[in-house]
Amino acid sequence: MRIYRAADYRELSRKAANIISAQVIIKPDCVLGLATGSSPIGTYDQLVEWHKKGDLDFAEVRSVNLDEYRGLGIASEQSYVYFMHQHLFDRVNMKPEHINIPNGLNPDAAAECARYDRVIEALGGIDLQLLGIGRNGHIGFNEPGSAFEKFTHCIDLSASTIEANQRFFKSIDEVPRQAYTMGICSIMHARKVLLIASGEDKAEALYKSFCGPVTPNVPASVLQLHQDVVVVADNAALSRIDAAGLI
Ligand code: F6R
Repeated sequence: MRIYRAADYRELSRKAANIISAQVIIKPDCVLGLATGSSPIGTYDQLVEWHKKGDLDFAEVRSVNLDEYRGLGIASEQSYVYFMHQHLFDRVNMKPEHINIPNGLNPDAAAECARYDRVIEALGGIDLQLLGIGRNGHIGFNEPGSAFEKFTHCIDLSASTIEANQRFFKSIDEVPRQAYTMGICSIMHARKVLLIASGEDKAEALYKSFCGPVTPNVPASVLQLHQDVVVVADNAALSRIDAAGLI
């Protein structure tokens, strides 16, 4: 695992975008695993800027998103499919048929999860998986206690994740209680993982994930067992690791 330090969110976003852009340049038809949330917005903005300058071509890139709220579709501004179109897909030359996101509107959870696993397999797996990290160490929607051996599945959101995500909804009651998410095993199968973390509220999660034991209680800690993980974090997110004198 390599940790790249950034002074702030802006520098973090630029570094992360550089890594993704290198992947796209090296393999123009690569499969990018993508994430939503606050963390990757600056990264997507940077990729869009380079695309608009003519430096980055997404015509052959394929994407698979990590997760989607169960019950939400593109008509909902809080859905992850809406987020992705708003922040990336509609601003670059991604082909619609190359975009894959769990279908939150499929009420048949087992069928949707099996379909999504088949999509990832048919694409030949994920070349680069971008991840944010939850304050409780979750990756995707794999909450503490999630079994490491799972592929795509339907989960119940933890109280802390519902609370953290309520900022995107009118009230906490509107936050969906379930989501479809790639499992830890899907993420661990990615050939490369890029985890980004910004801000002091991620400091404890980063510390526990990369300096503590590998345990399902801290889902991101499993990444210690992945052979190619890059963490890009700002000083605030690294503050707990710094305080322990570990890097
Ligand atoms: C998003 C996702 C989540 C987020 C995590 C951090 O697709 O899977 O695991 O990466 O909740 O969210 P932010 O970046 O909003 O702090």
